[in-house]
Order: sequence, then structure tokens, then C-alpha cells
Amino acid sequence: MFRDPVQSPEAPPLHPATVAMRPLRVGMIGIGTVGAGTFRVLARNQALIAGRAGRGIEMVVVAARNLARAASVVGTDVALTNDPMLVATHPDVDVVVEVAGGTGPARAWVLAAIAAGKHVVTANKALLATHGNEIFAAARQHGVAVAYEGAVAVSIPIVKALREGLTANRIEWVAGIINGTTNFILSKMRDEGLGFAQALEQAQALGYAEADPTFDIEGVDAAHKISLLAANAFGMPVRFADAQVEGITRLQGLDVACAEQLGYRIKLLGVAKRRVDDGVQGVELRVQPALVPATHLLAHVNGSMNAVMVKGDAAGVTMFYGAGAGSEQTASAVIADLVDVARLDGTHAGQRVPHLGCHAHALDEQLAVLPRAAVFTHHYLRVPVHSAQQIEVVVAWLAAQQVPVLQIQRAHDKNLPSGSGPQVLVLTDRVAQATVDLAVNALAAHPAVAGPVVTLRVEMLEG
Ligand SMILES: NC(=O)c1ccc[n+]([C@@H]2O[C@H](COP(=O)([O-])OP(=O)(O)OC[C@H]3O[C@@H](n4cnc5c(N)ncnc54)[C@H](OP(=O)(O)O)[C@@H]3O)[C@@H](O)[C@H]2O)c1
Repeated sequence: MFRDPVQSPEAPPLHPATVAMRPLRVGMIGIGTVGAGTFRVLARNQALIAGRAGRGIEMVVVAARNLARAASVVGTDVALTNDPMLVATHPDVDVVVEVAGGTGPARAWVLAAIAAGKHVVTANKALLATHGNEIFAAARQHGVAVAYEGAVAVSIPIVKALREGLTANRIEWVAGIINGTTNFILSKMRDEGLGFAQALEQAQALGYAEADPTFDIEGVDAAHKISLLAANAFGMPVRFADAQVEGITRLQGLDVACAEQLGYRIKLLGVAKRRVDDGVQGVELRVQPALVPATHLLAHVNGSMNAVMVKGDAAGVTMFYGAGAGSEQTASAVIADLVDVARLDGTHAGQRVPHLGCHAHALDEQLAVLPRAAVFTHHYLRVPVHSAQQIEVVVAWLAAQQVPVLQIQRAHDKNLPSGSGPQVLVLTDRVAQATVDLAVNALAAHPAVAGPVVTLRVEMLEG
């Protein structure tokens, strides 16, 4: 298809200098949402992309299960197969684009492509979060690139920003809204006062959530992404297995309303923070619904949009905003990776941008993820009490505890969704999770307390 520009009326012909270079030959595994978008954008912007890459980018072979559907996307000039392994090892392919998804077979295809000396571009965050360390090691051994901008925040080039633009910085933290489905649901809960289940139904009806939304709503998708970001930010291996992951399925509309009363909004945040305080050395790596001040930029990232903030010691705080999913939005990242590969093909591996931003010998293998108990943040507590009189009993009890209280609000029925009952709302100073857990356990047994005490983290994310 890309061999004959006349076939695409929108695409001007390639420059003769570009035609003189051998094109980068692509084999693609999967031609669904991302694959089809990649094909379309490559075709539409063919000459532009070739001019930037210095050579043409030519689709040679595509693997899919439903070949008729695949043919309706790629036409007749591209070979089709049911066998992804054939693409992974195809002798006419320089780079394998894996956009099929999943972890088991995808791992085998990607490792086979690497062993066959092919570069790999993937948008598969689940694959890299679970098998990234093995895949990057194999790629180093075989001197090929594995590029994965599409696996993190798609239209937002955050991997490139961390590995290249911010490479001078000691990164202190990376945090962001990196799952569009949950951000859409949380926006609906806040704006329309919906419960979680209703907001999820709307997200599914509008195509913002998949039929099985588990990975999104349980925070797993965001954890895949923040694990990759942490590895790039801190020069450490991918530590997805150690991340603390909490989704939004247990979040109550009442807490969205109470946060609002306190001047905060609840967002599902991925946070990776380097800690070198109080004798603690390590990284906090976590996904959780958290309160952010209503005046904070992240509080204004709504609907399905994503945003990532990075704090570096030299650059200070930077923020990146854009669509975190979508066909051509992800294609934008996949093709950027293909252009990088087109430019680097033939260079020595040691001269390229390393997979995780620093060269293998400099990766900090010892940098560990801190346990949950050691996580140190501000906290929100909501304590339901039996009657308005008992609000003061709980306030007095809290004053005698180790928890450093910054703000207490007495919330009566009339300010809250109907039937909520009186509540004590507490914002704490920064305190270890272990201290909060102790206080919450003790509160649970207090006779004034009418139900489970809710705790959420509060993230100030200051410069
Ligand atoms: N969608 C997004 O917005 C987005 C954003 C960022 C990253 N991603 C990632 O990109 C990847 C692809 O996502 P997607 O949304 O494009 O998925 P999708 O629409 O379900 O497409 C998957 C494609 O892979 C093919 N496929 C799956 N298993 C196969 C097998 N065993 N053999 C041959 N073909 C196979 C499917 O073929 P058939 O159609 O013939 O069954 C389909 O063409 C995933 O890793 C996802 O996490 C997606």
C-alpha cells in the first residue's frame, strides 16, 4: 500500500532522496483499534513521515485472527496471515509492531522477533509491566530496540520526555491521571452525583469502558503504566509486581461529595516517588483514588483525558496533558517509535536511547519499592457517627491520638447527600500509613462510630 502513493489521493509522493533509501519494512501483529489507526495514519501522512524518518515506512505483513476484517483495513498490497510467529520471524521484516495485546503469546512473539534480530514496537503495557525486564535484557543481548511510547500515555510523549528531555534531572516524583476510563467515571460521579455502578454503566454505553473493565477500574492498567514510568524516572527495573494497587470500585459517592466540601477532588492517581527521608531509601509505587486540592491542575483534568506531572531537581514541575487512549491517538505514539527505529537502524546499540533511560550497567537493581506501611502522605478520614452529639466525642478522641490532624470538619446531614448521617471529616498532615491504620483500627471499635471509617490519601503534588 505504501509502495504506490497514487493509491492514496491525500498522500503526496515521496521525495526522491527518501525513495533512494531502503524503506523500513514493518510486520504488524494485530490490526484492531491501534493497528488500524496506525495503518491509517501511516497511509495518510506517508510523505510527511518519510521526510522525518529519512526513509519510507512500508507495511509488509500483518497478522490477525479474522483475515477478512484485516483485509478490509489493509487492502490487497499487504500480506496477511493468521500466524503471528510468522510475522515475528519474517525474513522481509525489519521491525515488528505488536498491537495484539495480552501477555502469554505476546511475550513469545516479541522474544522470537528479538531473537531473529528485529526491532520491536509495542503498545502493550501489560506485556512490558510483567515481562519487560526479560524483554529488555533479550533486546540488549541481540542489539535491537524495543520502543513502547504507545504503552504508557499514548498521545502524551512522556517516555520520550523522561528519557530524553528530562535526562539531566534527578527525578523526585512522577504522578498522574493515566487511565481515561476511571477518570471519566470519577468526573461523572462528581459532576452528576452518580454512584460508581451508574457511572460505569454510562462509561460502557459511551465506549469509554470495555465490556470487561476490570483492569481499568481495579487500577491495574494504571499500575502497568506507572511501573514503566517509575523505571524510566529512577533508572530502576520494572517493578510492577511490587506496586500497591487500589482501584475505584469501593469508592463511595459520599466521599466524592465530602472531598468537594473540603476543597478537594478525587482522582485515580498513579504515583512514583523517590524517598530519601527519615532514613528511608526506596520508591513509593502506587495507584489509588486520592484527594487533590481543587485548585491543583490535576483536579481539572476531566472526562477521559490523561495528564502526567514530573518533578525534577533542575526543571522543577512539568506537566503533560492529552488523550490517554484511542485509535489514532495511540497510532501517533506507535509511529513516533517507528520513526525512531527508522533513524537508528544500523547504529550501534550503545549509541541509542536505552530502554529504561539509562544504560544497563547504571540501572539501580537495589532500589526497592517501599511497603504500604511506610508510604508517607496526607490523609483524609471520614468517620460516620451515630448522632450529631457524638461528633464532638470523636473530635476529642482524635485530638488525643498520634495522627497529626490539620483540619476537622463536622458534616451534618443537611450538607451531605440525603441519608448519609453525621460525619467527622479529617485531613491529616503527612503521616506514615502504619500510623493511620492504627488509628482507624482503634476508631472502628469506638462506641460513637456508626460504620466503617473511610481513609483515602491526599496528594498535594507541590513544586
Ligand atoms: N485501544 C487503545 O486505545 C489502546 C491504547 C494504548 C494501548 N493499547 C494497547 O494496544 C494493544 C492493542 O489494543 P487494541 O485496542 O488495538 O486491541 P483490539 O482492538 O482488540 O485489537 C487486537 C488485534 O489483535 C489481533 N489478535 C489478538 N490475538 C491474536 C492472535 N492470537 N493471533 C492473531 N491476531 C491476534 C486481533 O485480531 P482479530 O480482530 O482478527 O481477532 C485484533 O486485530 C493492547 O496491548 C492494548 O493494551 C490500546
